[in-house]
Amino acid sequence: MPLPTGIGTQQAMAIGTAGLTAMLAVIALEKHGLNPDAGEVLVTGAAGGVGSVAVALLARLGYTTAASTGRMEAHDYLGFLGAVTILSRAETMAPPGKPLVSERWAGCIDTVGGAMLVGVLPAMKYGASVAACGNAGGNDVPASILPFLLRGINLHRLHDLGADRRPTQRAPMTAIIGRLLAPYALKLAGLFAILGAVAAVLLGARQAGRNAERVERMRRTIEVQRDQLDAASRRPRDRDEFAHRMRDGSF
Ligand SMILES: NC(=O)c1ccc[n+]([C@@H]2O[C@H](COP(=O)([O-])OP(=O)(O)OC[C@H]3O[C@@H](n4cnc5c(N)ncnc54)[C@H](OP(=O)(O)O)[C@@H]3O)[C@@H](O)[C@H]2O)c1
Repeated sequence: MPLPTGIGTQQAMAIGTAGLTAMLAVIALEKHGLNPDAGEVLVTGAAGGVGSVAVALLARLGYTTAASTGRMEAHDYLGFLGAVTILSRAETMAPPGKPLVSERWAGCIDTVGGAMLVGVLPAMKYGASVAACGNAGGNDVPASILPFLLRGINLHRLHDLGADRRPTQRAPMTAIIGRLLAPYALKLAGLFAILGAVAAVLLGARQAGRNAERVERMRRTIEVQRDQLDAASRRPRDRDEFAHRMRDGSF
């Protein structure tokens, strides 16, 4: 895909496919009528790669952004990105068996799919749209048709990965990136660098904990393997040696 004017290769790398996906999701929602006055916009899987950028972009564009996450330790990070409300996964999803609940979301960027997407649809406002761009939580979406029939909601799927291979889509994609990023072109790489640094600090402790656990597990495995090798090396070579050792108690 050709670089849009004003975007350098470093910035393009900083934006990455996660940034591109998040941008396309915002564009899809706006194309279908979303604007900052419409109300709260939900991002699911908000602490993930696509979700984080989506939260940051929406907040920067003036949307009241709600972030749904399973990681309580990511609250500060999401607040830093601009999320006004932070919800747990359970709070985000409508109770099972309820095809409609009170209207809440003016738009949604769903990076999770599966049960999360099913659980979000009942709370979409009349005529609101969901941009579905991921399946981190599963591929199956056994949803009720009622939010579509009774509230006229829309479900858009995003397919950005093959888009650059289709020449007819290159120009619109380039224009999209240029339009959304042009105002921030110079600041964006810095923004993502900051996001990365904050994520590293805020989520790093947890990762460090996991790494320490992993190292400890490896250490224990190596110890067990060493003991096994040790035992194997001391194994009697044949039946006579075995009998001899049994006799003198050195086994
Ligand atoms: N990265 C890309 O370039 C790109 C491009 C196009 C499409 N996608 C798709 O978009 C999705 C997200 O990508 P990503 O790069 O953001 O992945 P990621 O960094 O792994 O984030 C995914 C997030 O989804 C949430 N999640 C994971 N499993 C879940 C579950 N079982 N139930 C509820 N929430 C769950 C978690 O969010 P919390 O920790 O906040 O709960 C997780 O951080 C993926 O399906 C990916 O294939 C990614």
